[in-house]
Amino acid sequence: MTESVIAQQEAQPITLTVEGFGEIEAKSGERLTTALERGGVDILHRCGGVAKCTTCRVEFLEGEPDEMTVAEYDKLTEKELLNVARLSCQIHCAEGMSLRVLQTETSSGLERGKAISEEIQPEPQWTVRPGASTEG
Ligand code: FES
Repeated sequence: MTESVIAQQEAQPITLTVEGFGEIEAKSGERLTTALERGGVDILHRCGGVAKCTTCRVEFLEGEPDEMTVAEYDKLTEKELLNVARLSCQIHCAEGMSLRVLQTETSSGLERGKAISEEIQPEPQWTVRPGASTEG
């Protein structure tokens, strides 16, 4: 288990690039789902941001974080989404992220789900994603 480096840094204003939505203002270290929603993206989060539903899934075009919560790893493995998508509710925002949101209210016809908390849930334990630049 490793500590989240990003979470320990002081929040800085950053910009995310989101396909179809343009540039979105965010803070380093905040939950990616939260920043996307505040930026006007109607991203789904059906389970309330606890790594259960996978509806908050995104695909990174640039800046995919190497760190991954164990909860995200386990859920992506279960759903055969490892190396296909990431769960935005399990990710801290960082500079240089460019991504595509894979499920929205508009695209799915579903309601987005209950509000998510400020901190990543469940209490994160960190691992490294398969294929990460720091792996090995
Ligand atoms: S909101 Fe359900 S897995 Fe992220």
